[in-house]
Amino acid sequence: MLTLDNWTRVRRDFPCTDARVFLNTGTLGPVATPVMERYLSSIRQWNAMGPGSPDVYLGWRSRVETARATLATAFGCHPESLSLFGNVTDAINVVLVGLRLPQDARIVTTDEEHGALVGPLTQLAQRGITVDVVPFGQGGPELVARLAAAMDQAPTTLLALSHMSCETGAVFDAGALAGEAHRRGALVMLDGAQTPGQMPLALDAWGIDFYPFNGHKWMGAPAGSGGLYLAPVAADRVAITYTGDSAGSSGGDPADGRRFEYGTRNWPAWVAWGDVVAYRASLPGDPDARQRELAALLRGALAEVPGVAVRSPEPAGGIVTVSVDGLAGDRVYQQLLAAGVVGRRVLRPHLDGVRFSVAYFNNEDDVARARAAVAEVAARR
Ligand SMILES: Cc1ncc(COP(=O)(O)O)c(C=O)c1O
Repeated sequence: MLTLDNWTRVRRDFPCTDARVFLNTGTLGPVATPVMERYLSSIRQWNAMGPGSPDVYLGWRSRVETARATLATAFGCHPESLSLFGNVTDAINVVLVGLRLPQDARIVTTDEEHGALVGPLTQLAQRGITVDVVPFGQGGPELVARLAAAMDQAPTTLLALSHMSCETGAVFDAGALAGEAHRRGALVMLDGAQTPGQMPLALDAWGIDFYPFNGHKWMGAPAGSGGLYLAPVAADRVAITYTGDSAGSSGGDPADGRRFEYGTRNWPAWVAWGDVVAYRASLPGDPDARQRELAALLRGALAEVPGVAVRSPEPAGGIVTVSVDGLAGDRVYQQLLAAGVVGRRVLRPHLDGVRFSVAYFNNEDDVARARAAVAEVAARR
């Protein structure tokens, strides 16, 4: 009798692996079938009971508190430090709009930021705030040193950048950066869109002031799962901007992240996010390690293809980005899509290529098929 290895069994929880080589969890990840079933049945039950019945919606709100506590344990912080939103972008806006910035404030960011950060920073720049940009490069200690040098050039109010580049998967030591910034009197906000589900988070230990994050990429939570970590020491630096009913239930206490939450939300999605933590704990091995191994395999395989340049450092997670000599990343992306390999284009002045997001539910066969498809595209140039 054919026995399936453990990860092959896990793969069956992800129907998206049947149709194509899905390598774009870094944009939006699939929800594992057991979590999805629970989520769907809770939405049906919610609807069937009349969502507006106070016992029903208050029940959901109390389950959200359980989910918040689960996430806090997983991310190394206290539940009160977490506010829940619909996505990372919400959380970034809460910080950047709510921060009491002096008119001579200076923010330092990088050249590989997502529109979720570039948009709010552009608004601040239009209001006269100085925004300076340094290269993200390959992350690591060099990036921390570049940011330290930028802070030494002029007084800096805030560092605002991705913890992991969405373009290459490069990362750096968050704790080391927090130390450099705080020594110079600067606050730090790291956009954590790409980190939960790719590497362990230790939010309190890192000492970062603000850490927006989401669950709907690498963690595999339903779309609409976003959050913000506010370090207890920095919580009162962010004023409430949008507010309304429910937010007051925390009494506006700066040490309670719920002060930013108001109005009706898709509470079952946040509850499912808590379920994801239990699902990941039930996996046959460490999902972070599995996707790092697969990404390293893909990176090694692509490095040997003539005409292909690997643009990512050694994987810290599942992201591998390549460019093909003489071919625009958009063309490569389109041709791969036509061949059934789903990546994402990378379009930066310094980086024109395709990003692959290898998740733990991918496998060696996906890696081989992606390599073969890239080799075919490169050979046809
Ligand atoms: C680095 C980074 N920041 C922000 C976002 C936006 O995430 P969300 O849709 O959760 O706001 C993304 C999404 O790709 C991202 O990669």
